[in-house]
Parts: sequence; structure tokens; C-alpha cells
Amino acid sequence: MTAMTFIARDVSDAAAATTQCAILPLFRNAKLAGAALQLDRASSGGIKDALALGDFSAKSGESIMLPGTDAAKRILLLGCGEAKKFDRAAMRKFSQHLYHALEHKQATEATLHLAGLALKTDDYHWLLAHLARHLTAASYRYTETVSKPKQPFKLTRLIVNTHGALKPRAAANALREGKAIGLGVNEARNLANLPGNICTPTYLARHARKLARNHARLTATVLEEKKMRELGMGALLSVSAGSEQPAKLVVVRYSGTGVNEQPYVLVGKGITFDTGGISLKPGAKMDEMKFDMAGAASVLGTLRAVAELGLPLNVIGIVAAAENMPGGRATKPGDVVSSMSGNTIEVLNTDAEGRLVLCDALTYAARFKPAAVIDIATLTGACVVALGSHASGLFANDDALAEQLLSAGTEVHDRAWRMPIWDDYQDQLKSNFADLANIGGPGAGSITAACFLSRFTQNYQWAHLDIAGSAWDSAPKGATGRPVALLTRYLLDRAGL
Ligand code: BES
Ligand code: MN
Ligand code: ZN
Repeated sequence: MTAMTFIARDVSDAAAATTQCAILPLFRNAKLAGAALQLDRASSGGIKDALALGDFSAKSGESIMLPGTDAAKRILLLGCGEAKKFDRAAMRKFSQHLYHALEHKQATEATLHLAGLALKTDDYHWLLAHLARHLTAASYRYTETVSKPKQPFKLTRLIVNTHGALKPRAAANALREGKAIGLGVNEARNLANLPGNICTPTYLARHARKLARNHARLTATVLEEKKMRELGMGALLSVSAGSEQPAKLVVVRYSGTGVNEQPYVLVGKGITFDTGGISLKPGAKMDEMKFDMAGAASVLGTLRAVAELGLPLNVIGIVAAAENMPGGRATKPGDVVSSMSGNTIEVLNTDAEGRLVLCDALTYAARFKPAAVIDIATLTGACVVALGSHASGLFANDDALAEQLLSAGTEVHDRAWRMPIWDDYQDQLKSNFADLANIGGPGAGSITAACFLSRFTQNYQWAHLDIAGSAWDSAPKGATGRPVALLTRYLLDRAGL
């Protein structure tokens, strides 16, 4: 798939600019000015005529395609509603409408004239970053395993005319930021959408190596089961025990600044298929457990975005990849395994496997002397019950880190909601036969899962994102790429950008 190109340019005479489609955002009851007036004159009053006919009144979401001029082949009027109500929700709608208006058109290139919007510089930045991200993500198609993939989005080039709005340089930065996030989101979606028979732990490891080859500042290393055994990762290995597919612990390093700068570490749950193991899941919707590596996919997607942006900080991605299967060698309920931290764990339910792979990966993360560690996991069905699909569950042992992640999510509309990990809940993890149990009973399932992880993250600032509800949609079925936008925004903030 060819990624869209975004170009910022100062064009003073819209009527003279050659383009397959001139896009004019218009507010309700606004007087035609600038590019709109120039194009109206060049089309012998075509825009004023269309408005006078009353078919288009610039209501939010309204659009009309008009025949163009010699230079601008088509003119697309995009309604933006009341100027005063053009907030971020309206800007998100604007991006969607722009995409839909061009979705089935043959234009491969278009020019967006910004001046008519008359926004503040910050709002232009937000709008352009969001637009580039949205168009990049909306043009994603899953093609890997379909013979006749859906039609690709024809538009491959968007020129943004900044004249009378902002500096081309500022616009180019916003577009670059949005596109990088869009590419990261698509990277995560594509990996998560792949079926479990293709996307195995070995595939994830190979894919991480490939990603590293494509970006100078990325390097990938893969720990095999033998090495994990030497390190004492009995919890992680207990999950892959029933599978023919060997587990992999993938470490991808992004070096964007001095080696002495503490890295931000992202740890992803990479269960490439979760049958539940001996505690076998029921059949309904079990196919969706191919998405159980969406946390890992979001780690790789975020690293892609960070690498595209060349952020001046160090980031390490750790993917804990395994397949959870029943089998002759599979872990059984009641088995006790020992983790790298030294804690022994009674596996009361083999379907609570995410925390088992994560706890060893989180213990391993400490060796990087992290500035902060964030794990991302499709961890609990209980989180879907609590928050549905709109918010990811956020848990943290540090209030400042929690606030930073919440605000990053709000900024890019990839929101999280904080839940408690009070000590009061820890008792639910007590075991008579080990240091702790891997399940905490019927109440507060996503909290006790987070409490389990908190036992392995006491030596650094840590947050956990439960993305069980936000990582994929069931109808139409597909991965969302969340929370790549949240994580990339968080890292942009840390870099002061
Ligand atoms: N991958 C699942 C969580 C999940 C379930 C995500 C449904 C999205 C939709 C996880 O490994 C799991 O099976 N969790 C169990 C934990 C329980 C056994 C304590 C769950 O949520 O039922
Ligand atoms: Mn499970
Ligand atoms: Zn799982």
C-alpha cells in the first residue's frame, strides 16, 4: 500500500493552481473570500450559484462536488457548520467528511485551501495533524489473505495551501506528526489483523527485525526459550508450554539520544492466539483471540511512529510473544511456576496467561534502568465490562505518569480512564501453595490483574493499559491500532514536542 503524501505550500492564487480537486472548507453564512472567491470567479460564479440554489448550506458534514476550472478540475465544498462551534469534535468530523467525499472519486491528488477556516495557529496544528493521521489510517486496507482486496483509496497526495492561514513550515510539521501516527496505527492494525496461523511468535520476532532493518535508529534482538529458561522466566514459559510454537521475547531499541539517557520502556502482551489453554475458552467469538497480541502490535506501531518522527529520546519495546494452547505439555490449573522475580505463582486458571508472560517481561525491563515502563495488554474481559470500547483501562503506581498518559490520550482522542490498584485488592491474589495466585476471584477482574502486575513493577514508575475493549472492533471486525496515538503523543510530550 502506498502511503499518502502530504505537502504544505503557500499558494496565493488558487485559481492558477493546477489540481485534480480544490477543497474549500466553508463555515455557515460566511462571505466568500480568498481561495473561495478566486475559484468562484474562475468558475464564472459557480460557487455562489451553488450556494444560492440552497443545495449546500455549509452545515457540518455537508459536501458538494462542483465542476471545476481549467486549473482546478473539481471543486469540493465542505461544510464546517458554525465557525464558533468548530471545536475538536467538529475537526474530527471534518476529517471524516473529507475522506468520505473523496472515497469513491478518481482523484489521486487534491489541494486543501485552509484560509477560509481562520483558526488559531494551535488549532491549525491540531487539525492538520489529525487530518494527516485520519487520512493515513482511513486509507488502510487489509490485503494479506484476501484474493481480491477492497479498492484502495485513490487519493495519494494532499497539498495543503497554507496561504492566509499559517506558515508552510508549521503546517508541514503538523502533517508529518499526524502521518507518522497514522503509519504507526496502521502497522499495529495490520499485525493484529493477521490470523494466528500466520502471526505466530516467530512471525512477530521476524517482523520486529524487519522493522529494525528499515529504520537506522532501531535495533532488534530476540531471546529464545533457552535463554528465557536461563533467566528463570518460568511464568512466561508456562504459557507456551502447550504450544508447538516457541515463545519469543523480542526487544526493539530506538536510540534517539545519548546512551546515558534513561529509556521509556513499552511492554506488549503478544499472545498470538489465546485458546485459554487447559482452562479452554468457549467457542463463541474465539477467533477474536487472534487479537490477543494487539498490545505487542501497538508497541511495534509506536516504535514505527517514533522512528518516523526521529524523536530525541530513547525508547525500548519489549514484546512478550507466546501462543496459549492446550496440549500434553500444557500448564494445568493448580500448577505452580516460578517467575524471574523469584515469586512463585499458582496458576489457578490457564486463561489468565497475559499476566504470566507480562510479569517476566516486566522483571526483565528493570535492567534498562527505565525512566518509566508502560505495559499494554488485552488483559481482561472484565475491562470490557467496565469501560466498553471507548476507553482503555489505565492503572499506575505513579500519579504523575498516570496524568501524563491520560492527557496524552485526551489530546489525540485515544482516551484512557484510570482505575485503582489499592492494596485492599491484593488479598484476592493470596494462595495457599505459592507466593501469589494468577487470578483474584469474581470481583474486580481487571483490577486484580493489574494488582498482579504491580507485584513485579515496584522498582520503577509503571503504568498498565488494559486495551481488551479498545484494541479491536467486532463489527466490522478489525483492529483499531489503539493505543498507538496515545503512546506516541505521550512520547512527543516527553520530548517537549
Ligand atoms: N485475552 C483474554 C482477555 C480478553 C477477553 C480480551 C475477551 C478481550 C476480550 C485474557 O487472556 C483472559 O482470558 N482473561 C480472563 C481472565 C480470567 C481467567 C481471570 C478473562 O478475562 O476472562
Ligand atoms: Mn486468556
Ligand atoms: Zn489473553
